[in-house]
Amino acid sequence: MKVSVIGTGYVGLVTGATLADLGNQVVCLDILEEKINTLNSGKSPIYEPGLDELLKQGLKNKNLRGSTEIEQNIRNSDITFICVGTPSDKNGNIDLSYIKSASSAIGRALRDKNEKHTVIVKSTVVPLTTEEVVMPNILKKSGWKRENLGIGMNPEFLREGSAIHDAQNPDRIVIGSADDIARETLNELYSPYKCTKLECSPRTAELIKYASNSFLATKISFVNEIANMSNVWGIDFQEVAEGMGLDSRISAEFLRAGAGFGGSCFPKDVKALAAAAKKSKVESLMLKATLEVNDIQPKIIVKMTEERLGVVKGKKIAILGLAFKPDTDDVRESRSEIVVRELMEKGANVIAHDPEGMPNFKEIIDVKMAPTPELATEKADCVIIMTEWNVYKNLDLELLLERMNGNVLIDGRRALDSNLADKVGFDYKTIGLG
Ligand SMILES: NC(=O)c1ccc[n+]([C@@H]2O[C@H](COP(=O)([O-])OP(=O)(O)OC[C@H]3O[C@@H](n4cnc5c(N)ncnc54)[C@H](O)[C@@H]3O)[C@@H](O)[C@H]2O)c1
Repeated sequence: MKVSVIGTGYVGLVTGATLADLGNQVVCLDILEEKINTLNSGKSPIYEPGLDELLKQGLKNKNLRGSTEIEQNIRNSDITFICVGTPSDKNGNIDLSYIKSASSAIGRALRDKNEKHTVIVKSTVVPLTTEEVVMPNILKKSGWKRENLGIGMNPEFLREGSAIHDAQNPDRIVIGSADDIARETLNELYSPYKCTKLECSPRTAELIKYASNSFLATKISFVNEIANMSNVWGIDFQEVAEGMGLDSRISAEFLRAGAGFGGSCFPKDVKALAAAAKKSKVESLMLKATLEVNDIQPKIIVKMTEERLGVVKGKKIAILGLAFKPDTDDVRESRSEIVVRELMEKGANVIAHDPEGMPNFKEIIDVKMAPTPELATEKADCVIIMTEWNVYKNLDLELLLERMNGNVLIDGRRALDSNLADKVGFDYKTIGLG
């Protein structure tokens, strides 16, 4: 099938590369020329394990290419995926401006096309967006009759850091279609995947995505709240999590306590769903609480640091981990941002390291960075682990302590063995360990 993908970010690139790998003719489109040039040169504009290889292979087979010629490439394809960003505005509402400009471009592109065309929204959008914003806009701009256009919503469930694996091994595919054209086209495109394919309306598909992300985010906040209770009662939350996880109704996944969730999805999606519900006169108490607990967690890390160091002013504090999770360079809504900002405001001498996230983080906060964890922690009074990268999990704790000036080790992700850290001589503190 000839596929065009609008928006060459995390989702667009992975969607494009995996569909090309299945033998489709894919063109990834973006307004940013630099991104497209990087893609066409065989490199990934983002860090995602395995993506470089898949892109190179797609370019070599001539199944994949990038372009900034948006309308012409939409016209020449059978199906267009909308994968542009859907950020939050300052009140937490979804900002649909990129969705609107992408659908306008599709409408203009289809003006001179006579064959049928399918448009699928893959971006995360609040219920009714596909039917009430995207479809009318395309029909208006193209002058098309409704019956020639296939319209659908097919949410993306990939996890950054394992995005290729997730896209190639989906546990379910949600096919939200407004008509038979979209339903049949998506079923054909995804026929190589043997997982459950759930057919539903676009608005149901839109809510499945938000409900899934909000549920997972709520699970994290719930676990963090219980872990905070464990802290004061001298209980190791890890044992509590083990006991909870043995119940198949709860499952052992997403029961890790820590500094809270970040990234480009959970925080903005929970906010957007709460704001959309409020607009429709349904107040969400759960989602509000999920966000409030998540705001508290990085502050607990700062408090733990202050309790151990006395004053942080003038103290050298090494932050290990800036990406919102390991195996990605994505620092959007990273909990490290809050911790670094607060410590800098309190006068600490903060020096940070991350294997992949430093260039992106530098655009948010101008904090001192060190090229290696060893240099970051040299003569530090305190080390704070904020992302559970393997390189930090595998740190030689004895050498770390030798390098440091003090012995305070705050583990914001429960990445280290607490018994070992105590034995080596650290003043070790983590969330959910009495
Ligand atoms: N990143 C994830 O892990 C993830 C997972 C599931 C769903 N999603 C959702 O997918 C969507 C995209 O997320 P992302 O992280 O890939 O975003 P991103 O910011 O990485 O990429 C979006 C891209 O769209 C481009 N763009 C914007 N307007 C355009 C236009 N009119 N024409 C062409 N290109 C345009 C931007 O230049 C950018 O390169 C969002 O709705 C997000 O919530 C993201």
